[in-house]
Amino acid sequence: MTATVLASAPASGVRLLTISRPERRNALDRATYALLGASLAEADRDASVAAIVLTGAGNCFTSGNDIADFRTDDTQDAEAPTEPAAAVSSPGLSFLRDLVGVSKPVIAAVEGFAVGIGTTLLLHCDLAYAGQGARFRLPFVRLGLCPEGSSTYLLPLLAGQKLASELLLIGDEFPARVAAQAGIVNAVTEDGQSLETAIEKAARIAALSPEAVLATKKLLRRGYATAISETLEEEARHFHALRRSEAAQQAFRAFLSR
Ligand code: COA
Repeated sequence: MTATVLASAPASGVRLLTISRPERRNALDRATYALLGASLAEADRDASVAAIVLTGAGNCFTSGNDIADFRTDDTQDAEAPTEPAAAVSSPGLSFLRDLVGVSKPVIAAVEGFAVGIGTTLLLHCDLAYAGQGARFRLPFVRLGLCPEGSSTYLLPLLAGQKLASELLLIGDEFPARVAAQAGIVNAVTEDGQSLETAIEKAARIAALSPEAVLATKKLLRRGYATAISETLEEEARHFHALRRSEAAQQAFRAFLSR
């Protein structure tokens, strides 16, 4: 089977992870979530790596969760609860926990589409850059779902309540300029230049004292860590109950039978 996450070393001390399912616009299926989570953990453990860059192949960041995996006939989800109160486990949630747990800086480079978790995962990256043609979308409510990835906590914090509510409740596509305004990305680059920018920032970090970098990342997140993980789990409970609703299942069928 072809690997759907490619690892490379574009600069000294830098690990580049590329999501690579271009025929599905880099949609994150079970195997890709698992491989991405494992690749992040491996890079975090590897003493030769100081910073991690995350991007997508084929001029697309990621179209988000693989919608085929959201169907109720997916047997591996048989344990998913139908009530928001119950504990949840899912490949997407495990990946998000892995991402939140990375101790080294993670820097995202976004070209093309960043949909759903493709946008919310950026809230957990330390730095993020987007080509000016990049397009973002948080379509959860339109799909009969609720937001995930602790975005109901982090996006109001970064973007302000009004902009966060507009992006999460209405779910329209928005351009890189708005992603920068919302604090989802640091800066907008020329099209096709986000990866070069991300690698350059990663290489600069890799030239610094690793202990100082690790301590600074930890301290930057200290005040938010509990709220982030509590919101992650709470959103997941609602998400997985809603995922089984008729409204959501109808939205998934509509996308898959276009
Ligand atoms: N899950 C499963 N398959 C997906 C997918 C996803 N998230 N995103 C794209 N694909 C598939 C399409 O079904 C299509 O398959 P096909 O070639 O068998 O028809 C293929 O990838 C190419 O997608 P297409 O829609 O033709 O590409 P596009 O460039 O016109 O549009 C997107 C790209 C990302 C705007 C569009 O694919 C899209 O909206 N995807 C769904 C995003 C989404 O709602 N994600 C879930 C968030 S919770």
